[in-house]
Amino acid sequence: MIKPKIAPSILAADFNNLEKEIRMLNESEAEFIHCDVMDGVFVPNISFGIPIVEHVKKVAEKPLDVHLMIVNPENYIEAFAEAGASWLTVHFETCPHLHRTVNHIRENGMKASVCLNPHTPVSALEDIITELDMVLLMSVNPGFGGQKFIHHTYKKVRQLKKLIQESNADCLIEVDGGVNYETGKKLVEAGANVLVAGSFVFGSENPKATIRNLRNI
Ligand code: DX5
Ligand code: ZN
Repeated sequence: MIKPKIAPSILAADFNNLEKEIRMLNESEAEFIHCDVMDGVFVPNISFGIPIVEHVKKVAEKPLDVHLMIVNPENYIEAFAEAGASWLTVHFETCPHLHRTVNHIRENGMKASVCLNPHTPVSALEDIITELDMVLLMSVNPGFGGQKFIHHTYKKVRQLKKLIQESNADCLIEVDGGVNYETGKKLVEAGANVLVAGSFVFGSENPKATIRNLRNI
C-alpha cells in the first residue's frame, strides 16, 4: 500500500500557541498544513482568514493546503496566493464558473483543487477532472471539526479513482473529516492519497506520533 500524505488541519490546533503548533508540524511527517477558511455564509461557522494564513506561512516549512469554505472564492484567489497558499481548494457548490476559477488559481502559481460536499456526486467533475491537481472529498458536512465520518465516502473515493484513471488525469484524492486510524486505512485502501486530520491529531497525546502512525496505517 502506498503511504498516504498527511495534512493536519490547524482548525483543531491550540490558537494560543499557534507558532508552537506549526513548529511541531514542521518537525513531523506531515506533508501539508491544512488551513480551513470559513465565512459563516457557505458554512455555519467562522474560522479564520487571510491574516492568519500569512502568519502560519511565516513559520511553516511545509506547503499550505488552504481549504476555502466561502462564497465567491474567485474574489480572493490573488490574496491567498500572496498570503502563501501552495494549494487552493474551492468548493464545487460555490463556483458557477468553475473552469475559470480553476484556471485563475493556476495562473496565480498555486495547485488547483476542488472540493465536493457529501451530497455532490463525483460525476459532477467529469468535464474538469483533467484540469485539477487534487479533488477534496468531504467525509463530513463542512463547518466543524470533530464530526462523525460518513461511510458513503469510501464509495466516492473508488468512483473518483476510476474517473481519474479513465480520464488519464494527474490528480490527487484528498479526504477531509472524521479521519482516524480506522477510517484512514479504509480510505487509503479505496484509493485516497491525502488524509486531512484535525481533532485526531491535535487531540492526541503525541501529535507527531499520531501523524507518523497515520502515514503508516
Ligand atoms: C471541516 C474541515 C476539516 C476539519 C476536520 O469543515 O474542513 O478540515 O478540520 O476535522 P476533523 O479531522 O476533526 O474531522
Ligand atoms: Zn478542511
